[in-house]
Amino acid sequence: MNGKPSRNRASAKMAQTAIEDLLAKSISNDPQLLKNHNLHVKRQAVRKQYNVAGNNIECPSHVYHASLGSSSQFSLSHLLTQEFRRTDSVLELGVGSGAVLLGLAGKFNLAECHGTDISTASINAFSSNAKSNDISVSQSISDLFDALPPKRYDVIVFNPPLLDIRGKTAEEDMMLCDEGGALLQRFVQQLPQWLAPDGKAYVVVSNLGNPYPLLKSKLNYSFIGAEVFIADYVLVRAVAKICAQ
Ligand SMILES: C[S@@+](CC[C@H](N)C(=O)[O-])C[C@H]1O[C@@H](n2cnc3c(N)ncnc32)[C@H](O)[C@@H]1O
Repeated sequence: MNGKPSRNRASAKMAQTAIEDLLAKSISNDPQLLKNHNLHVKRQAVRKQYNVAGNNIECPSHVYHASLGSSSQFSLSHLLTQEFRRTDSVLELGVGSGAVLLGLAGKFNLAECHGTDISTASINAFSSNAKSNDISVSQSISDLFDALPPKRYDVIVFNPPLLDIRGKTAEEDMMLCDEGGALLQRFVQQLPQWLAPDGKAYVVVSNLGNPYPLLKSKLNYSFIGAEVFIADYVLVRAVAKICAQ
């Protein structure tokens, strides 16, 4: 026997604790961050097109832009390192333009991809991007899981709005803001009823927001990737993988 498996477990635990410590240092009130956020909001108002993982993704105004450096591209880059089975049923909540779900569908040739969003503009963009990239999907307008018929999914993905403030407009609030982590809290509470017995969920968390609903939950989670961005403030974001068991 060598000591490697337990050393690896110890390093993974240390990394997890370090990421959690960084996530706990909220930057949502930093004045420079809020200035950058206002610019970010303005950029979302202009229609743009992106190539994401080989798919052509149109983002109309007020549909979250899957730009380079966005949480869409950040989360997708880590999700693409995971093993998905062709037979997996995959649900993305808050699908936006579809950049993430269509990226996964393109790589893993998934049999079932369902995207939901609370925003009609996002659902229309997702449906149109799926068609133009010749990827078969289904979609529904829903506040988290509320409008979905009961079902357990093999994979659930959520890149939620992150910033812990109330947006100045309904569009800004929907795309980018989760005041107090209320949306993440509802996701964490409802998730177990929607995951298959060996299912997995992936959710983005950041110190832009309130990650405590996940960090304080009893869910079995670990991080599959994290990124630290140092500017006037230290921005941390991570993709958590939650296992049903
Ligand atoms: C940060 S964007 C991510 C969009 C897309 N998943 C991506 O990664 O490019 C967050 C998305 O969540 C959606 N959203 C916000 N509140 C929601 C809710 N209560 N239920 C479902 N979707 C919601 C927004 O409309 C937006 O499309």
